[in-house]
Amino acid sequence: MKYSVVFALVLLVSRSLAQSPIDVKKEFAFAAQQYERMLASHPDTTKFPQSTNPDGSPRDMKSSWWCSGFFGGSLWYIYEQTKDSKWKDAAHKWSMAVAKEQYNTGTHDLGFMLYCPLGNGYRLTKNEAYPPIMLTGAKSLSTRFDPKVGLIKSWNKFKDYNYPVIIDNMMNLEFLFWASKKSGDKRFREICITHADNTLKNHFRPDGSSYHVICYNPDGSVAAKMTHQGAADESAWARGQAWGLYGYTVMYRETKDKKYLQQAQKIADFYLNHPNLPADKVPYWDFNAPGVDSPNTSNEERDASAAAIAASGLLELSTYTGAAGKTYYQAAVQMLQSLASPAYKAKLGENNNFILKHCVGHKPGKSEVDVPLVYADYYYLEALLRYEALRQKMGSRS
Ligand code: GLY
Repeated sequence: MKYSVVFALVLLVSRSLAQSPIDVKKEFAFAAQQYERMLASHPDTTKFPQSTNPDGSPRDMKSSWWCSGFFGGSLWYIYEQTKDSKWKDAAHKWSMAVAKEQYNTGTHDLGFMLYCPLGNGYRLTKNEAYPPIMLTGAKSLSTRFDPKVGLIKSWNKFKDYNYPVIIDNMMNLEFLFWASKKSGDKRFREICITHADNTLKNHFRPDGSSYHVICYNPDGSVAAKMTHQGAADESAWARGQAWGLYGYTVMYRETKDKKYLQQAQKIADFYLNHPNLPADKVPYWDFNAPGVDSPNTSNEERDASAAAIAASGLLELSTYTGAAGKTYYQAAVQMLQSLASPAYKAKLGENNNFILKHCVGHKPGKSEVDVPLVYADYYYLEALLRYEALRQKMGSRS
């Protein structure tokens, strides 16, 4: 009897916790305080906040690094929520600091680098200085698409292969869809569709999980299926699953083609039903990392960046998927509740002024392990805004 009362109480508390809404205003007030410190510690706009070095010092990168657009993008999200013009000024400054990368044809990451800062800036301000930069960037990115292969090349070389494509590349397609609409040039859109179709054909396993790297031959046939940042060629690298989930949700938004929606759901179902997904829904850095022997107590690092990306993607996916949408929405809210808790969120002035802790950049490369990452903050803020917008649209569902 006593035990059943305790059990009922635990159930009640955990249920009310699961359903308690996230205080988005409070989360953004904290983000603003933390990023005020970040701005103060970064007077030089050629040094972009990225993470923390092994000795605890701030790790900054140049504008040519794939993450250079996320800081500006996060500043736009803080402006969007707070409406305080000081954030607009800072966001503009850090967005323009990446503008020179519009001519960079050596990377597939121009969507992250240009569209996260300038795309958000244009959406919020209609500053006409931004589209020409992005359109030049979209042309630069398109030079990496070889019609004979039918995909945008991610890197120029990977091991012995000359045409590697990583699942992360799905995230750069939103930028090309925008460029197509803005310029009227249908080629950008066609590149997105061809890239997404070939990725769908070659990048996924029957269970919905994806490889990290597919290497192609010049005729578009598959030469090798491998990993770079995951635990093994046949493992499910957590952030890669999140990139795919988010990327195919965008493909459905932009085309309304049901096959992309089905793929996004397949990835989401793989992710959410995986026996190694911890109860707080923040995954280990790889679902099949060698030390994962139990979903909650394994001696492997979590990747809060994967959870932030997945939460944002799931919130959008939940709006397209009828009854299943409730599951995706609730899972996303649980991810955000975990990230907003002291287990993952920094204290003011700590964590080199980043918001989230416990991310993994590249574990096999022994780089950025259990650290903050600038893109975790970006997708966390984006997900909070999506959550707030959905709550406003649907009343007070939590
Ligand atoms: N696009 C590289 C990464 O997700 O780490």
